[in-house]
Amino acid sequence: MPVEFIAAPGESIPLADASVDSIVVTFTLCTIPDVARAAREMRRVLRPGGELLFAEHGTARSARAQRWQRRIEPAWTPLAGGCHLTRNPPQILRDAGFEVQWAEGLLDPRPLAARTLAPLTYGYWGVAR
Ligand SMILES: C[S@@+](CC[C@H](N)C(=O)[O-])C[C@H]1O[C@@H](n2cnc3c(N)ncnc32)[C@H](O)[C@@H]1O
Repeated sequence: MPVEFIAAPGESIPLADASVDSIVVTFTLCTIPDVARAAREMRRVLRPGGELLFAEHGTARSARAQRWQRRIEPAWTPLAGGCHLTRNPPQILRDAGFEVQWAEGLLDPRPLAARTLAPLTYGYWGVAR
């Protein structure tokens, strides 16, 4: 299968409106600087009936983990290539006009990881149309 790699920021996708069948996004909505604009761009290029599949991480469900995410994020973001911990992937996609179906939970549910890594490992995965 021929593959064409297009080097461009998500905020400005050099493709025509409704020209894309499917979009796959993994662990990137956390990092794109203007993620709302990138989500609108994905909505623009996806054809009617097309699907955006996503696997992301973001704001945790528990208040305790959320507090840690807010504490860690200012140091984490510059160290982790621009990654944010407190974004809400389904909300970002809904705000861009998608209908979103998703599941969420700890990406590593083992008890020790769930206690210590929840701020870094709260995941969201699903489909946006
Ligand atoms: C944590 S990495 C995820 C890499 C890979 N998708 C994965 O799942 O392993 C975050 C990615 O966001 C990308 N990124 C950063 N700014 C971006 C932008 N403006 N538009 C599109 N992608 C961007 C980076 O190049 C990086 O590959």
